[in-house]
Amino acid sequence: MGVTWSGDGPALLLALDRTGGTPLGHQLQDQLRVAVRQGRLSAGERLPSSRRLSADLQVSRGMVVACYEQLIAEGYLVGAAGSGTRVAVGVGGPARRSPRAGTTSPPPAAEHRVDVDFAYGVPDLRSMPLPDWLWALREAGRSAPTAVMGDEDDAGSLRLREVLAAYHRRVRAGTAEAEHAVVVNGFRQGLVLALGALARSGVEQVGLEDPGPRQHDELVRRAGMQPVAVPVDRAGLDVDALRRSGARAVVVTPAHQCPTGVVMGPERRQALVAWATEVDGIVLEDDYDAEFRYDRQPVGSLQGLAADRVLALGSLSKTLAPGIRLGWLLVPPSLVGPVVREKLLTSRGAPALDQLALAALMESGRYDRHVLRMREVYRRRRDVLAGAVAAHAPGLRLAGLEAGCHAVLELPPGTTEPDVERSALRRAVRVHGLSHYRVDAPRAAEVEVPAALVLGFGNVDEGRVLRGVEVLGQALSDASARVPSAVGPRPAR
Ligand SMILES: Cc1ncc(COP(=O)(O)O)c(C=O)c1O
Repeated sequence: MGVTWSGDGPALLLALDRTGGTPLGHQLQDQLRVAVRQGRLSAGERLPSSRRLSADLQVSRGMVVACYEQLIAEGYLVGAAGSGTRVAVGVGGPARRSPRAGTTSPPPAAEHRVDVDFAYGVPDLRSMPLPDWLWALREAGRSAPTAVMGDEDDAGSLRLREVLAAYHRRVRAGTAEAEHAVVVNGFRQGLVLALGALARSGVEQVGLEDPGPRQHDELVRRAGMQPVAVPVDRAGLDVDALRRSGARAVVVTPAHQCPTGVVMGPERRQALVAWATEVDGIVLEDDYDAEFRYDRQPVGSLQGLAADRVLALGSLSKTLAPGIRLGWLLVPPSLVGPVVREKLLTSRGAPALDQLALAALMESGRYDRHVLRMREVYRRRRDVLAGAVAAHAPGLRLAGLEAGCHAVLELPPGTTEPDVERSALRRAVRVHGLSHYRVDAPRAAEVEVPAALVLGFGNVDEGRVLRGVEVLGQALSDASARVPSAVGPRPAR
C-alpha cells in the first residue's frame, strides 16, 4: 500500500468486495474508519478528492461524498474549504511526520546542548552554492538528450568523466583521461569499489595511515583483506614501515593527512611511488582537502607522478556539500575494468541529471569560483583558530594549519582526551580526541601518538571558533587542574 501525491490529492489503496452482499458505500465507510483507527491514515493526513477516489474505485462520486460527510459527522474526518478532506487530529493512531500535513514533531532532545561543534570533516554547509547548483541542474535538464534517462555508461556519464579528467589535469596536475575516470557516489563508495577490485586481483594486505580516517580498517576487512596500521610522522606516512609490512596497497591522504593534518613532503611522495613500483603495488590517494592549501600553491596529485600506480579518489563532500553525493576515481589503466565491474555489480550508477549538472557547474567556472571563495573563508577561520588558541591555550602546539578545514591541538602533559572532551561538552562545546582515529589492525611499527584534539572548523563560523576556543581553554584548565603546570608556556622542542 502506498500513498502517492497527484494533482487530485493522494492515492489511497482500498479494495471493495463486489461479490458479497455488503453495500459498497458501507464497505467504503468501514474501511476508512479502520484505516484511521489503526493509524494507516494519520492525523492531519489528506484524503483523495471525491473525484479521484470515485474514479479509482469505480463508484459514483456521490457515494464518496456521502461517505466523507458521514465520517466528518462522526469526527473521523474534517473538511475545510481549499484544503480538502483530512483525517481529524486526536483520533486513531499517532500523527506521523509529513512534509505536507505540517504535523512535525520536535527532534529528540540531545543529551547535551552543543553550541559549538568542532566536528571533523564537515564543510560550511551554509555556503553550499545552491543557486549555482540549481542553475546547473536546469542547464542539465534543458540540454540532456533523452538517452541519459536510460542506463548510463558503466563508468558514469562520459561528458562528466571528460570534465573531471580535464579538471584533475588542470587543477591537480594529473594525467588521466576520461577513459580512466569512474563516477561514484562520493569517496566512500569509490574506496569500497577500489578495495573490491584490489581484493579480486590478489592483494591480501592494505596499509592504512595510523592515526587515519575512521572505519577504513573495517572496510578493508569487509573486502576480504587484512589492514595493516602504518605510522604517520611529521613528514607523512612512514614508507619504510610500509615496506616492511608486506602490504601491496595503501590508502593515503597526502594533501592534508586525516587526522594529523600533516602535508606529505616531497621525499615521502617520491618514496611512496618508488615503493609502489618495487612491490607492484597500488596507492589509493584520497585527494580530499587538496584545493584548500594556504601556505603555498597546492601540490599536485600523486596520480600525476605515477598514473599506473596511483588511483586518485576525489569528492564534492568537502568542496560543495556531502549531500551532493558525487565523487570520482581516476584509475590506473590495468584496474579500470575491474573497478567498473565492481561498480556495475553493486550500484548501476549515479543519478544522471546530477552528473550532467556537475559537468555544467565545472565547465562554467562556477565550481572553481566557489572553491576559491571557500579557500579564503577557511583561511580566515584557520587564522582565527590559531589566534584564539594562542590566547586561550598558550604554549600548546597546534598542527596541520597548512591546509584543509581542521587542525590538531596537542594536549598538555597529564591531561587526557576524554577528560577534555567531557569538560568541554559540559560547557556546550564538542571536541573530539585524536585517539578516535587509531586504526584497529596489526601495526607495522609501534608509535606513540600524543593526546590531542582534532578541531574541525569547516562548519564553525569565526565567532563560534572564538567562543569555542575560549571555552576550550577553560575546559583544559579544569581537566588539568591536578597538573597545575599543564597549560602554559612550553619549552621549545
Ligand atoms: C579523509 C576523508 N576523505 C574523504 C571524505 C569524503 O568522503 P565522501 O565523499 O564519501 O563523503 C571524507 C569525509 O568525511 C574524509 O574524512
